[in-house]
Amino acid sequence: MAHSSTRFIVSSCSLLKQKSNVLVPATNRNGSWWSHVEMGPPDAILGVTEAYKRDTNPKKMNLGVGAYRDDNGRPYVLPSVLQAEQKIKDKKMDHEYAPISGSADFCNLSIKLALGDDSQHVIQGLNATVQGISGTGSLRTGGAFLAKFFPYNKELYLPTPSWGNHNPIFIHSGLKVNKYRYYDPSTCGFDFKGALDDINKIPENSIILLHACAHNPTGVDPRPEQWQELSQLIKKKKLFPFFDMAYQGFASGDVVKDAFAVRLFLKDGHEIALAQSFAKNMGLYGERAGAFSLVTSTKDEAAKTLSQIKILVRPMYSNPPIHGARIVTEILGDPALRQQWLGEVKGMADRIISVRTALKDNLKKEGSTKDWSHITDQIGMFCFTGLQPAQVERLTKEFSIYLTKDGRISMAGVTSKNVEYLAYSIHQVTK
Ligand SMILES: Cc1ncc(COP(=O)(O)O)c(C=O)c1O
Repeated sequence: MAHSSTRFIVSSCSLLKQKSNVLVPATNRNGSWWSHVEMGPPDAILGVTEAYKRDTNPKKMNLGVGAYRDDNGRPYVLPSVLQAEQKIKDKKMDHEYAPISGSADFCNLSIKLALGDDSQHVIQGLNATVQGISGTGSLRTGGAFLAKFFPYNKELYLPTPSWGNHNPIFIHSGLKVNKYRYYDPSTCGFDFKGALDDINKIPENSIILLHACAHNPTGVDPRPEQWQELSQLIKKKKLFPFFDMAYQGFASGDVVKDAFAVRLFLKDGHEIALAQSFAKNMGLYGERAGAFSLVTSTKDEAAKTLSQIKILVRPMYSNPPIHGARIVTEILGDPALRQQWLGEVKGMADRIISVRTALKDNLKKEGSTKDWSHITDQIGMFCFTGLQPAQVERLTKEFSIYLTKDGRISMAGVTSKNVEYLAYSIHQVTK
């Protein structure tokens, strides 16, 4: 059947042709539907891991992937997660489908973690929250909702640079994606003036994406007083803020401090969208636990928007996975376990902060006279080193240190054992 249909649309042209949105295969000699499909490029970050795996140098380092490692370079399963899993096992729970919006307890605990237990928005029911497929899926659900219901320009503005998946997520959602300045390569810090200038030029009633904390890939966050100014400007310009909060607790070690910007915007009277992820702060990468929320002005709006989000979710993935959400619910819902988890998040954040200092100190010890203060000024999983593509290439070729071409290193892959080698290697390529 497939063969005869393909033959029917065969063109005599030797090249592929796009005709009225129909790709016409040049030939179907082998009778395939897919002969016109070209090999896509590998994922920028996962490609780094593949190259790392092939390297036989015992000193090799993978600083590409953004997943936490302990001081021995091994993946870390949080003890609070192990305890939560034991509790779930003891409850002998079933494996029935979750509701379309996911576990109600999970949604409630997630939004409270973001906005605070005493949040008036939560207390008054001014939020439409659904469990998402971790941070990525939550952003995608938000994108789908905005593409359908945002009442004005369906245009979203991203910081430059931003997490590499933002652009495709929002384009895939049907939004038009634009940019505003964020990072200043000359200081390896926040381009506050550039951001204000660009935000000022964004047409009113557009959507602006903000990294709530631990900006990826730069590790550069606005200071509290800069957030205040951003909030005022975004209000004046009537922009709709969409917060991506993938690192709550992971940035500073304090979940309240890392939620500062989100809570400030609400205090300032913004309505917001919010994507949360438990990948990093609970180490639940593969469990895909996250949440998407709209914080609305009225309870009626929360109910109506929730009903529409559910209608969008149903054909996309029907309902979310249950195991990760159960772990999060056990941890956040049990005061003792939650307290333990807060200590463990702080432990992860503190380890990263300490290797930042160690890297800077070791670069100095190596004799580097460059200003490396941005290594400790930046925050979270990543450090935007300022290394140029040619220097990155040398680091990989000569020293078996793997990172993305933009000079971003995952601080989570740096340990007390390999930090000296990293500093030595960076000094060799930058001196
Ligand atoms: C800024 C940002 N947003 C969202 C995510 C989503 O991660 P996940 O889908 O694993 O929760 C990440 C992960 O690296 C991220 O860095």
